[in-house]
Amino acid sequence: MQTEPRAVSVGILKGGFAKTTTALNLARELAHRNERALVVDLDDNGHMTLNLGFGDEYSSGETGNHAESVLLEGEDPRDHVVNVVDGLDLFPAHEDLESVQSALKEATMGTTRLKRDLVDPLLGEEYDYVVVDCPANRGKLNDNAMYATGNLVIPLRPENGYETGLSNTLDRLVQEAREYFELDILAVVPSDLRKRIDQDTRDRRLLREITTRDAIDHLVPNFAYLSDEDWAAVDDGSYDGDLPGIRYRAAIDDAHQAGVPLRDYDPECDQLAAYDELAAIVERGEVAR
Ligand SMILES: Nc1ncnc2c1ncn2[C@@H]1O[C@H](COP(=O)(O)OP(=O)(O)O)[C@@H](O)[C@H]1O
Ligand SMILES: [Mg+2]
Repeated sequence: MQTEPRAVSVGILKGGFAKTTTALNLARELAHRNERALVVDLDDNGHMTLNLGFGDEYSSGETGNHAESVLLEGEDPRDHVVNVVDGLDLFPAHEDLESVQSALKEATMGTTRLKRDLVDPLLGEEYDYVVVDCPANRGKLNDNAMYATGNLVIPLRPENGYETGLSNTLDRLVQEAREYFELDILAVVPSDLRKRIDQDTRDRRLLREITTRDAIDHLVPNFAYLSDEDWAAVDDGSYDGDLPGIRYRAAIDDAHQAGVPLRDYDPECDQLAAYDELAAIVERGEVAR
């Protein structure tokens, strides 16, 4: 497949909706497919950075606030990336990203810094893919992520509030950004699915919502997609395809706790195929049905 370097944000205006899990494993699969990938932790909770074992980088210590150095003082981002596994590097979060966000509000062209100072210099040079793990709240950091990448993957979990999480993201992040620059949604990716879908479960409602809504159904990867015929088969008990993913797997949660990408924790996990397909979507720039 002919591919070009691409940057992508993983974001939804809601915490606990699989942003970090999806961003890390997407970046890991992009690296595995023989690309050089960088994942950027832009969430001040630092979950990814801390999970991966970079607590020193997260807390000030000797290095200072590297995010501030790069985004506000123009320091070289290469001096602040760390290696996760072969082919995959991390630009760590810092515990005081909040003050970076405040300073970006005051800064000249404060929305353009991540693009100018990190993504543009590195993408197509050191890395073929850059994946940004976004914060859950609106603000300058999210604006920077949207502007720097121009592409968004929206993760979802079948938890209370997924409808508002999705509609807030579409209305207040995507639509508003689109008044100023181009922003493509590459995929809407459910994760942590574990309930039956032939009964009225939250999993079913979420999957019905995203696979039957006109503006969204073409953004659902094949591993999560059910056609009208599939749904009819689900309802008459004759569906014999794979259950839509990304499924709940203990290995995904355990890998998260253990601080390694899924591939490095359990290379046999069946859901790796979904992250691999997501990586192919990012390479291609769209879902192909
Ligand atoms: N497919 C899955 N299987 C098992 N656990 C999952 C799966 N997807 C997400 N999780 C778990 O859900 C929790 C929240 O995910 P996380 O990526 O931290 O969300 P966010 O970054 O949006 O706050 C984590 O504990 C993660 O391990
Ligand atoms: Mg997170």
